[in-house]
Amino acid sequence: MTTRRRVLGGAAAAAAAAAVAALGPAAAQPLPPPAARRVPSSGEALPCIGLGSWITFNVGDDPPALAACAAVMRAFFDGGGRVVDSSPMYGSAQATIGHGLAQLGGRAPVFAADKVWTGAGDRGAAQAETSRRRWGVARFDLLQVHNLLAWEAHLPALFEMKAAGRVRHVGISTSEGRRHAEFERLMRSQPLDFAQLTYNPLDREAEQRLLPLAAERGIAVLVNRPFREGALLRALARHPLPAWAASELGCDGWAQLVLKFIVTHPAVTCAIPATTRVDHVRQNLGAGRGPMPDEPLRRRIAAHIAAL
Ligand SMILES: NC(=O)c1ccc[n+]([C@@H]2O[C@H](COP(=O)([O-])OP(=O)(O)OC[C@H]3O[C@@H](n4cnc5c(N)ncnc54)[C@H](OP(=O)(O)O)[C@@H]3O)[C@@H](O)[C@H]2O)c1
Repeated sequence: MTTRRRVLGGAAAAAAAAAVAALGPAAAQPLPPPAARRVPSSGEALPCIGLGSWITFNVGDDPPALAACAAVMRAFFDGGGRVVDSSPMYGSAQATIGHGLAQLGGRAPVFAADKVWTGAGDRGAAQAETSRRRWGVARFDLLQVHNLLAWEAHLPALFEMKAAGRVRHVGISTSEGRRHAEFERLMRSQPLDFAQLTYNPLDREAEQRLLPLAAERGIAVLVNRPFREGALLRALARHPLPAWAASELGCDGWAQLVLKFIVTHPAVTCAIPATTRVDHVRQNLGAGRGPMPDEPLRRRIAAHIAAL
């Protein structure tokens, strides 16, 4: 006769097996990291899928929400991710990242990318120091002037910090096509390591001037808003994924198709989608593996999505 204990044990084992199966191969054996791209100025190789933190990591000190963000970060690093992007503008996101890194015992191979965001030109270094303490890292790998705010004061200060070894790379950021003319001027005139901008199959203005200029000047590119803050994926979800996305590129959904389009632009170093979900971070990392579109297929992706 089956005892209650054996029934419970069997149910628990079945549940555990189902949970492992639901996690897919990632739970059973480690997957390779996303394809790497080199930062032209330093030669450092970075996985082409990163992690943003705007809104998603602004969770205050709510313990379950902090634990959920820490789980996203753990899955991100387990899956081979490295680049995490934040800003003093993102509420409690920096502290959330610090919590996640501490949960991992300070062993995560993070490439810590943050920003200076203050109109007070003489406050940049102090703000960066506050941000560094919130992350709990020894130094930032990248500091960017957020949305070009007070760049005239911040860029010289950041270059000084780099010369003193207090930050490894310096960059500028913009989004949604803002101030591209001024952005281009700084890309031409300043010794930048990184430029962060918006690029996805529907927002392609950067293809005209900024991305070719980045390639020409040896500036690494981080791509923000790959999913238009989620709106692009919500719109695409109303349509079936084209069969060729799965058969030719191995995509398991729209998120991977969009990310594969982005990270195969030759000037792009890393896309930084944000998410609150472990399954989504795994899916996003998966876009950096397997077959990648060539230029004709990239054009087909953009044309297909634009026509929907
Ligand atoms: N000027 C600047 O410097 C600037 C401006 C904007 C953004 N950024 C940076 O770029 C990062 C990314 O941009 P963003 O956060 O605005 O938007 P985004 O990454 O384009 O979209 C984030 C949204 O996409 C959803 N998502 C992520 N992966 C998904 C998946 N596999 N399937 C379905 N939904 C998915 C997330 O919802 P779930 O939580 O449900 O996954 C989230 O709501 C920011 O977090 C920030 O670090 C910088």
